[in-house]
Amino acid sequence: MDSKKTFYITTPIYYPSDKLHIGHSYTTVACDAIARYKRAKGFDVMFLTGTDEHGQKIQDKAAAKGVTPKAYVDDIVATVKDLWKVMDVSYDRFIRTTDDYHVKSVQAIFTRLYEKGDIYKGTYKGMYCKPCESFWTEAQLKDGCCPDCGGPVYEAEEEAYFFKTGKYADRLLQYYEDHPDFIQPATRKNEMIAFIKQGLQDTCVSRTSVSWGIPVPFDPKHTIYVWIDALSNYITALGYGNDTYGDYDKYWPADLHMVGKEILRFHTIIWPAMLMALDLPLPKKVFGHGWLLLGGGKMSKSKGNVVDPVQLCSRYGVDAVRYFLLREVPFGNDGAFTNEALINRINTDLANDLGNLLSRTVAMCEKYFGGTVANAPIDEALAGLMADLPARVDADMEALDMPQALTNIFELVQRANKYIDETAPWVLAKNEADKPRLNQVLFNLCSALELTAALLQPYLPNTAPKMAEQLGVDAAELHALLREETAGVIRSGYTVHKGEALFPRIDVAKEIAYLEAEDAKRKAAAEAAAAPAPEEPAAAEITDHEAEIDYDAFSKVEMRVGLVRACEAMKESKKLLHLTVFDGERERCILSGIAKWYKPEDLIGKRVPIVANLAPRPMMKGKYVSEGMILAADTADGGCSIAFFNDDVPVGMRIH
Ligand code: ME8
Ligand code: MG
Repeated sequence: MDSKKTFYITTPIYYPSDKLHIGHSYTTVACDAIARYKRAKGFDVMFLTGTDEHGQKIQDKAAAKGVTPKAYVDDIVATVKDLWKVMDVSYDRFIRTTDDYHVKSVQAIFTRLYEKGDIYKGTYKGMYCKPCESFWTEAQLKDGCCPDCGGPVYEAEEEAYFFKTGKYADRLLQYYEDHPDFIQPATRKNEMIAFIKQGLQDTCVSRTSVSWGIPVPFDPKHTIYVWIDALSNYITALGYGNDTYGDYDKYWPADLHMVGKEILRFHTIIWPAMLMALDLPLPKKVFGHGWLLLGGGKMSKSKGNVVDPVQLCSRYGVDAVRYFLLREVPFGNDGAFTNEALINRINTDLANDLGNLLSRTVAMCEKYFGGTVANAPIDEALAGLMADLPARVDADMEALDMPQALTNIFELVQRANKYIDETAPWVLAKNEADKPRLNQVLFNLCSALELTAALLQPYLPNTAPKMAEQLGVDAAELHALLREETAGVIRSGYTVHKGEALFPRIDVAKEIAYLEAEDAKRKAAAEAAAAPAPEEPAAAEITDHEAEIDYDAFSKVEMRVGLVRACEAMKESKKLLHLTVFDGERERCILSGIAKWYKPEDLIGKRVPIVANLAPRPMMKGKYVSEGMILAADTADGGCSIAFFNDDVPVGMRIH
């Protein structure tokens, strides 16, 4: 029998209405670090993520693109899976709400709740926000707008099924009281309690106006409205109500639902009430984390103010982005995403503190000992910190405080850097008698780095093995260390191998300038894409066709690329410009009646098509001889528009 303790962790299932952004990566990477940590600690982990694919918004998006909703979400879901691959997300299972087994299970759940009397038919009236797919009561609106996204709402009414959330109000309050850790962070618990106490409305759980959804099995003109469909994923993905999966008994109840704070209410009120109605156990913990903000507002698909995680990963490496997400903002709080903050984190913590510690240590081991240092006692300067660190990190992870866990790990990194300054190995190296001490110092540094690498595994899954390789430690040993199967670092010595810098330092000013330029390009491209196609001007009315000619006749017209070397207005005529055009062999004078539409400076230095074998024509009473013509189109307002060549076309070239 499998006696391992299980740990079931979930992300929200995301709407594949658009590509996911760094906000979704925030939740998912946090869950990934927790899942990896728990696995390392010997838990049998089930890490679930997925996509929430039904609803009006996706139906609209697909229609706008001219594809079926399923085809639309299939494309986006492929990008979601790619994203998690790029970000090294080690999910165990991916649920799509369009999966057959989920559809079947949701219908069974809906029917069961109906038969129990916890779902009934009524009429829905309310203010509806389309992007959020939420009905709101008047009291909930903020300045007449959606309290979540701040967008407009409109009055809507329809026949609908309702779930009796209200019936469970007292039991929910009781549950919170009996399970003080159920709602995290604790500060949000009061909001949930207040929400229930102000009078809990029943929840509308069907729509007749939305066709892209799971049909109510006994009343198929209704589709099951988002929350029963979406929330059920956490059990259908384990096989509840279907036999695609068979591990409901093993993993339910979930240890942790990780969600953004805007959907905490659904997870701590509607979802537990649904589970109570189904006589199923409740999840142990729901954590509602804060938002990543961009330019002061929540980054969101509906607003379009998003940062693309794939681009960040390709520029800085996935571990740098993961580190930023896990470290920058106290977990639970809102925090701004800025390029400056990201780059500073990379430079300060990863390149300077961690990267330099490793490269200096490895370089000194090689320089002073040919790469191999022998076992030596751990100095007091590091011993206490190293001995306590795993337990401190463990406590942080129990509290779901990844930023604090990383802060603690980096405390060792900083202490070790200071230890180098204190022990000054380069001074010890000058004296043969200090060699044993020098060996001890370097052994200490290698040990501190090994422990750092072991502890960093869940957060920086690519960097930890790179560190291990440079330290000459194999991956299994690193796992064992994190698992605390070895009591601290016990090692006869280290044989290091110099490797690449873990995190190259970034030139902040240059990088910011680059990113801003990229940003501007992206915005311009987005605006151009969003702008309506320019209206085609009406075509000219053609009344002056010429008789057909053969090719020989055409080729008798010698057209060439001419360079306008000089151009002047003429005293003698307001209409004419006097151009000096180089034809590849010589300069010609061309007088052209274009002064109304072109200034000399518009033409000087330009390459224009000329007819080169037109008979010279005396003009201005013989004062000038014009030797050619510039080709131009008439314009609708009676003006003219000259055709120009690019600068890379050699002057004098024939035009055909
Ligand atoms: O709400 N900062 O899907 P969704 C931090 N389908 N986290 C963010 C974020 C930001 N700016 N933006 C998004 C849904 N997130 C439903 C969920 S669950 C049964 C159904 C993260 O695509 C955060 O976890 O709108 C948030 O709760 C989730 O993405 C919302 O994703
Ligand atoms: Mg959302």
